[in-house]
Amino acid sequence: MLNVPGHPDLKKIVILNPKGGSGKSTLATNLAGMLASRKQPVALMDCDTQGSSLRWLRKREAERPEVHGIAACEHDTTLTRSYQLRVPAEIRYLVVDTPAALPVHELVQFTRGAHAILVPVLPSDIDIHAATDLVSGLLLVAKVSRRMGRLGVVANRVRENTVSYRRLKRFLDRLSIATVCQLRDSQNYLHAAEQGIGVHEMQPSRVAKDLDQWGPLIDWLALRLETPLTARDLLKPEGERKSQADNVHYLADLLADRAARAGD
Ligand SMILES: Nc1ncnc2c1ncn2[C@@H]1O[C@H](COP(=O)(O)OP(=O)(O)OP(=O)(O)O)[C@@H](O)[C@H]1O
Ligand SMILES: [Mg+2]
Repeated sequence: MLNVPGHPDLKKIVILNPKGGSGKSTLATNLAGMLASRKQPVALMDCDTQGSSLRWLRKREAERPEVHGIAACEHDTTLTRSYQLRVPAEIRYLVVDTPAALPVHELVQFTRGAHAILVPVLPSDIDIHAATDLVSGLLLVAKVSRRMGRLGVVANRVRENTVSYRRLKRFLDRLSIATVCQLRDSQNYLHAAEQGIGVHEMQPSRVAKDLDQWGPLIDWLALRLETPLTARDLLKPEGERKSQADNVHYLADLLADRAARAGD
């Protein structure tokens, strides 16, 4: 169980989507870079054995505003687990990058106590199909329906006005899942990753379009991070009956949507 030893002032942003290559690490590292560039004390926790986020961090020059790295996937036998996952007291934001192929029952431990859960989805048929499974897993197992407002999708590598993108949007609208923002397919993300920075730390004239697209994401996050956690967010058992009813309601919509798409 990955219980992040935090403190009351810590805001946790979890990036997840078991579908590989959807943009989790890109989103996590850019968020961490953005917060650091705004002088916010931020930690980036890499839970993936591939270690993409930590690799990004190693490329980051020492002069850059600090992002504190937490290697949740590396098991150092000389340290206790809780020491390894320790979030220093001065840190205010924790960005969690999660691995691909995460089984549904493990989603719970990542979403517990999260102020915001961000799911990057690529607008391809395969990715949208996988996102349907993810959403049903989140509803049934991680009981996210009770805190739907904390869940947002980032449509990543979007080419607007494509059929796939419109389909993704329709699917999310039906389930009342916020499409927080769209990020275009841009070489800027590759260049930023090579230098261990985020697009917010690049020459503004070069990334103007990208920064515009981040605007709605930053606004959405600000509201979630300001909203105090409740027993629901900590997945305390009260309200179980209602949550089951909510889940059934959402699943019915989900299945109807799938059936409609199958008939497209
Ligand atoms: N908006 C974007 N524009 C251009 N390239 C992107 C964008 N988002 C992600 N990429 C690229 O797509 C590839 C996969 O992205 P990323 O590693 O962030 O996905 P992931 O979900 O973390 O993958 P994994 O599941 O393997 O951990 C990377 O090479 C990344 O640079
Ligand atoms: Mg990754």
